Amino acid sequence: KKTGVCRQIESMASISMWLLLPLMLLIPQGTTASNLGRPSIRKLLAIQIRSGYEPIRPGVVCSSCLISFFHTNFVRPNNEKVSLSELKVRTREYPASARDKIRMLQFGVRAKTSFENYTESIGSSYASRYTYIGTAIRINDRVHVGMLSADIGAYLVQKYRVFNKQECWRVLWILWKKCKNKQVRERRGFTANELNNIKMALQSEAMRALNSSLIQIHD
Ligand SMILES: *[C@@H]1O[C@H](CO)[C@@H](O)[C@H](O)[C@H]1NC(C)=O
Ligand SMILES: *[C@@H]1O[C@H](CO)[C@@H](O)[C@H](O)[C@H]1NC(C)=O
Repeated sequence: KKTGVCRQIESMASISMWLLLPLMLLIPQGTTASNLGRPSIRKLLAIQIRSGYEPIRPGVVCSSCLISFFHTNFVRPNNEKVSLSELKVRTREYPASARDKIRMLQFGVRAKTSFENYTESIGSSYASRYTYIGTAIRINDRVHVGMLSADIGAYLVQKYRVFNKQECWRVLWILWKKCKNKQVRERRGFTANELNNIKMALQSEAMRALNSSLIQIHD
């Protein structure tokens, strides 16, 4: 009895297999390959953002910490599909290392690449950081590029060295010398550890800014 049921199921399975086969042949192979298995540019950018993001440590951003506040000069999303013949012209404005990596895609079918870099400057009262991340994927004869760039600034808190200084004066001409300790505040630069915390906070803020434009990238 059992074997009968099994055989029935088996034959039903093979019948449905034969019914499905023409349907499977109808789906163009190119569509399944490039749409279903295609890596998503936005997802890849999200991974790049996440790998560069770490919450800012406590004690770094506040009016008496190291950074009083951030501001965003700009966040720019770049999203384009470029044919191989136009690749050279259309990538002219990209940063050099990104441009070279994108152009390499013309030598491989369905290859992908990613790039990122930044420049920063830290002064005594202001710091800034320009950051970009990007991913490019070749799909057939076109290259899809997604890139996010941001320029952010941070207002820095002046640090002081506080120490006691002895102040003396003479009483009754030269008979007595009187002294008193006085607290003195002297401006100082950032320590290596403070600079490191500022740099890490700039990176976190840059990633947060890039993330805010991720929604504008389409696959
Ligand atoms: C990243 O930027 C720095 C500073 O501008 C530069 O020296 C370096 O070559 C860049 N790296 C890449 C991979 O572009
Ligand atoms: C990026 O944005 C998404 C959606 O708005 C959010 O869930 C995620 O926490 C953000 N990530 C970072 C690093 O800011």
